[in-house]
Amino acid sequence: MKPLFHRTVIGEPVERHPVWMMRQAGRYLPGYMQVRAKTSFLDLCRTPELAAQVTMEPIELFDADAAIVFADILLTADAMGVEVAFPHGGPKIIEPIRTPQDVERVHEPDASRVRAVSETVAILRKTLPETKSLIGFSAAPFTLVAYMIEGGTSRDFNLTRLFAHEHPAAFGDLMGRCADALVPYLKEQTEAGADVLQLFDTWGGILAPELHARYVIPSVQRVVDGLGADRVPVIYFPGIGAEARLEAAASTGVEALSLDWRTDLGAAYARVGDRVRLQGNLDPTILLTTPENIREQTRKMLSQVPAGRGHLANLGHGILKETPPENAGAFVEAVQSFALAGAPA
Ligand code: CP3
Repeated sequence: MKPLFHRTVIGEPVERHPVWMMRQAGRYLPGYMQVRAKTSFLDLCRTPELAAQVTMEPIELFDADAAIVFADILLTADAMGVEVAFPHGGPKIIEPIRTPQDVERVHEPDASRVRAVSETVAILRKTLPETKSLIGFSAAPFTLVAYMIEGGTSRDFNLTRLFAHEHPAAFGDLMGRCADALVPYLKEQTEAGADVLQLFDTWGGILAPELHARYVIPSVQRVVDGLGADRVPVIYFPGIGAEARLEAAASTGVEALSLDWRTDLGAAYARVGDRVRLQGNLDPTILLTTPENIREQTRKMLSQVPAGRGHLANLGHGILKETPPENAGAFVEAVQSFALAGAPA
C-alpha cells in the first residue's frame, strides 16, 4: 500500500491526517547544527550521506509522515550558470540577471551539478520506512527567475517586476528556460525514489494579476505537463500572499495546493471544492508559543477541514529557527492524534 501521505495527496479516503513541516530539517535542530558546524550549507547539499542524515532527523525525532530531501531551490540556478552563494543571512546570486543579454548566459542545466540531490533521494528511499512518503522538490519557474533577477531575497522584488514590464520577451524566454530545466531535474528525483513532488513558488504572490496569469500559471502547467502522464503527484505552493490566486493555481493540474498562514482554510476548501487537496497552514510563529496552545490551534485548524476529506497538515511557511524542537513534536503529535469522524479504521 502507498504511504498515508501519498494516498492523502491523491484524495483517497484516509484513517487520519498526515503531517510534515516545511523546512523541517534545519537550524532549530541540534543534529543539523552539529553537521553545519563542520560543513558549509552548499557542501551539505552536495554530500548525499550528510544530506540524507539531516533529512532523517525530523523523522527520527517526531515521526513526521513525510521526509523532504535536504537540498535548496537555488541549486538549479547554479546548474544553469547563475552562480549562488549562501553567506550568513540568506542566498546571494553572484551576478544577477539584469538585462536581456544576461538571459543568454542562462544555459541548459548541467546535470552533474545537481546529481547529489537524486543520490540523496536514493539513499533516503532505502533508509525511510515504506509507510513514509519521500518528497522531492524544486522551485517553480517564477520563484527561480525572481532570485536570478533580484539576486537574493527581497521585500517586493521590484527589479523582477520591472524586468517583466520592460523586457517581456526576455522575461518570457527566461521563464521558459527555467521551466524546461526543472523537468529533467524533478524526473531524476522521482526516478531515484521520490513519490511526491512539491513546487515552491514562494514569491508567486508579488505579481499583479495580469502578469501572474500570463507567466506564473502557464509556467507551472509547463512543468507539470513536462513531467508526463506517468508522473508522481505534485503539490504546488503558490506563495506568501497568493490567496487571491487559489483558483488559478488549482487549474494547473496539480494534485494539491500548499497554503500560507494568511489564507482562511475553511474558505479555501469552499473555493477549490474537490478539484485539489490542500496543505498547510498553521502560522509558524505558533510553534514559538506553548505545547498547549499549539495543540489547541492545531485542532482549530483541522476542524475547518470538511468531513470526509484528508488534509495535508503543515505550517503556512518554513519552520522558524527559534522553534523549540519539543514544540515541533507537539504539533506533529496533535495532528496524528486528531480523530477523524467516520474514518476507515
Ligand atoms: O524543508 C526541508 O527541510 C528541506 C530543505 C529545504 C531548504 N530550502 C533548506 C535550507 C527546502 C525545501 C528549501 C526550499 C527553499 N529555499 C525555498 C522555498 C521554501 C520557502 O521557504 O519558501 C526558498 C525560498 C529557498 C531559498 C533559501 N535558501 C533561503 C531564502 C534561505 C535562507 C533561509 C534562512 O532561514 O536563512 C536558504 C538557505 C537554507 N535552505 C537553509 C536551509 C536549512 C538555511 C541554511 C543554513 O544556514 O544552515
